[in-house]
Formats: sequence, C-alpha cells, structure tokens
Amino acid sequence: MRVRRLFPTSLYAAPLQRGGTTGFNARLLRECLQLRRDDRAGAAWSKDRYVGGYTSYGSVNRMQHFSPTFADLERKLDRHVRVLARQLDFDLDARPLEMTDCWVNIMPPRVSHPGHLHPLSTISGTYYVRVPRGSPGLKFEDPRLERMMAAPPLRDNARADNRRWFVQDAVVGHVVLFESWLRHEVAANASGSERVSISFNYNWF
Ligand code: NI
Repeated sequence: MRVRRLFPTSLYAAPLQRGGTTGFNARLLRECLQLRRDDRAGAAWSKDRYVGGYTSYGSVNRMQHFSPTFADLERKLDRHVRVLARQLDFDLDARPLEMTDCWVNIMPPRVSHPGHLHPLSTISGTYYVRVPRGSPGLKFEDPRLERMMAAPPLRDNARADNRRWFVQDAVVGHVVLFESWLRHEVAANASGSERVSISFNYNWF
C-alpha cells in the first residue's frame, strides 16, 4: 500500500434504540413545545441569534437536569457516546465523558442555522424528534478547508471521504455524534412545517 489515509474525521449516526421511538418522541415533542411557550429568555435570545426559530441554547441548556424525559434521553445517549469514544481510542479511565449541555431547537420553514463549532466540548450531537419530509440534514465541512486554498476542484463522483463537505440526513429517532471541533450547519428548512431536534455536548474536563 502506497497511500495511507491518516487523521480521519469520525461521524456517528444510529437509531437511538431498538423498537422505535414513537412514544418517547411524543413526550419529548410535547416538552419542547411547552418550553418554547414558557421560555421568555430563550425567545429573546433566539430573536437575535436564531432568527425565525427557537432554541433554548442561551437560556435553558441543561434540560437533562430539569426534565425526567430529557434525563432518560441522556441515559440513552450515553451508550452511543461511549461507542464513539471507544472508536476514537479516547482514554477516559480517569474522567468519563458526561453530558454538560442539552437544549431544544425548533426550526420553522425557511429558517437556517449557519456554520458553527461547539467550543469547550469534546463530543457534540443531535437527536431528531420531528423531521417533516423535505427537512434539511446536518452539513459537515472538512476541518482542513482553510488550508486547502490551492487544492483543485473534485470530480462530481469523488468518494465520500475525499469530499470537502458531507450532509448527514436528519432521520427521526436517530442520533448523530461528532467531535465538537467539526464545523457544521443546517440549510434552510425547505419543508412546510417545523423541524424539532435536541442538541447536546459531552465533556471530559
Ligand atoms: Ni451545532
């Protein structure tokens, strides 16, 4: 073999659990919508930073401590995070990864979420509660992009791991995990109704 492929970027996607999530998602959705009704600070925060949508990122961002349903979600997510951490060869004997933040995102039609990272975090991810047909996925960008000014364009049929970006479909009942330094964005919601997701950070320090 002459070409080694080093420094890979890992993206984890899987169903949250076996046996479906219909009842669990109905409970989560009810709480997400209730939170939007109650959370005035979140409405004010979203007005400037998540235009047209609602997020509790700047207001109620530790949902796992306030709601038994979200605490249940945390337990379910822990298992997935452990699998990814093992794949990445993280040595977590001294300090385990723990959920630090967990917040709600409600994205009405035409609203988008521009590119960002999750600072002060190790593993981040999203769980999909409601995904109307035509909803955007989660778009990831090659973290080396700013070093690639002289790179030629790629062929249309370039293999997925050579591309400069990748869109992970949003699937209801599925969890997506990635390392928190990986830039990502959500394109405008092209569906006719609200897309609801729960995002979270895990940290080891
Ligand atoms: Ni994000």
